[in-house]
Amino acid sequence: MHDIDIDMVEMTLDVVKYAINRITQTNPELGKPKTESELRKLVGETVTNSGIGGEKAFELFRQVLVKATVPIDHPRHLAFVPAAPTRAAILFDLVTSASSIHGAYWMEGAGGIFCENEAMKWLVSLTGMPEPAFGVFTSGGTAANLSAIVTAREKWRKNPKNINQKGLLITSIGAHSSIKAMAKVIDADVVLVPSEDAMNEPQLEHFYQNLTASQKNRVFAVVGTGGTTNAGIIDDLEGIANFCSSHSIWFHVDAAYGGGALASKSVRHLFKGIERADSVTIDPHKWLFSPYDCGAVLYKNPEEAKEAHAQEGSYLEIFKDEGAHGFNPSDYQIQLTRRLRGLPLWFSLATHGTEKYEWAVEQGIKLAKIAGELIEQNPVTELVREPSLSCVLYRRIGWSAEDYRNWTYRNHETGFALVTPTKWKSGDGYETVSRFCFINPDTTKNDIEEILKSME
Ligand SMILES: Cc1ncc(COP(=O)(O)O)c(C=O)c1O
Repeated sequence: MHDIDIDMVEMTLDVVKYAINRITQTNPELGKPKTESELRKLVGETVTNSGIGGEKAFELFRQVLVKATVPIDHPRHLAFVPAAPTRAAILFDLVTSASSIHGAYWMEGAGGIFCENEAMKWLVSLTGMPEPAFGVFTSGGTAANLSAIVTAREKWRKNPKNINQKGLLITSIGAHSSIKAMAKVIDADVVLVPSEDAMNEPQLEHFYQNLTASQKNRVFAVVGTGGTTNAGIIDDLEGIANFCSSHSIWFHVDAAYGGGALASKSVRHLFKGIERADSVTIDPHKWLFSPYDCGAVLYKNPEEAKEAHAQEGSYLEIFKDEGAHGFNPSDYQIQLTRRLRGLPLWFSLATHGTEKYEWAVEQGIKLAKIAGELIEQNPVTELVREPSLSCVLYRRIGWSAEDYRNWTYRNHETGFALVTPTKWKSGDGYETVSRFCFINPDTTKNDIEEILKSME
């Protein structure tokens, strides 16, 4: 299995050929899912006692299985938060795998961790967080949010009166589902400020004052959002920072999606206050063009994260020894063994420079503006709200929830586009509407026109 023989050499050539072909495609086929039984029928049993051979397995992957996946970098994939990793970043993802580096401790991963830290320095500089702010790369926004709220809760628990208390976290209804999910993981309560638009200081203060005395005592963090996933809305981060500092509460900003826009001059001012956060989540695998998976958590005071996360074990002692000194990423987030998932971002940044990132992010914002104009010009569509960051919510006049769903399936089925519906508060209820999220700078005005035309 570990031998280097002719089969292995041939497989290497096949894999590299496939990778070159895929990396250079600009308009990959928009695959669609099949049921598990359909896939099973097409590929048969693949894990057997003696193996089916690399050639056969790879053939099945190329001919059947990858076609039942959606390429997230397709220019008309505008659903969820798409991704568009740079070719340099994808190539370096291959290099990262080939290099077999353990990214937990400096002693083993020094050269790679050095590269990650170079990329991290740039991320920190985008936020404007002052020294000694720093962070680490995680498997994504969920893990980054979890790492941050564990740090916040552990700091809060340092106060002896909180030791046996269940923590309570305040966020808004616009916050990402991972905040509630991760609060569940740490068995904390969550209360939601009822604002789907930007949560601001007066709303937050009013909400807080309406909590019971015992709830107030249990509040250990407020999570503001730097770009809601649904609509690209940025909370009043400055106001939340004021609230948190006046009540001595941890301030976390979830900018998993919107964080890329910190690189954009045109909208950077909307994030004012992020520099005062205790922790920030940014997902390079969303709007900073890294391949999956790559999130990041940044801390105002990394020592607080280290106190919460550093693991101890007799076999780990050597990594903390004087002789092995250096930055140990595992000390600052939930994971021990870790891939150096910041390496593809570093290589791409080193290759292209930060100005290209600024340009590519501005493209997403520009595409959202163009879409807004086209939607308003089209007699059968209208904006639900002004585009925000790279998100656009719009309505096809006269359509029901079922119409949106059928339209999504139809466009996916024909391999034309993947644009999915969402919901937006309307009166006392929620209305189904359509949503674009632009990430890929290769998406064109024509793509948007064609998608809108398919609604007529
Ligand atoms: C604002 C926000 N936070 C957190 C997440 C979760 O990130 P991940 O899917 O990388 O775990 C997302 C994902 O879309 C998000 O948009």
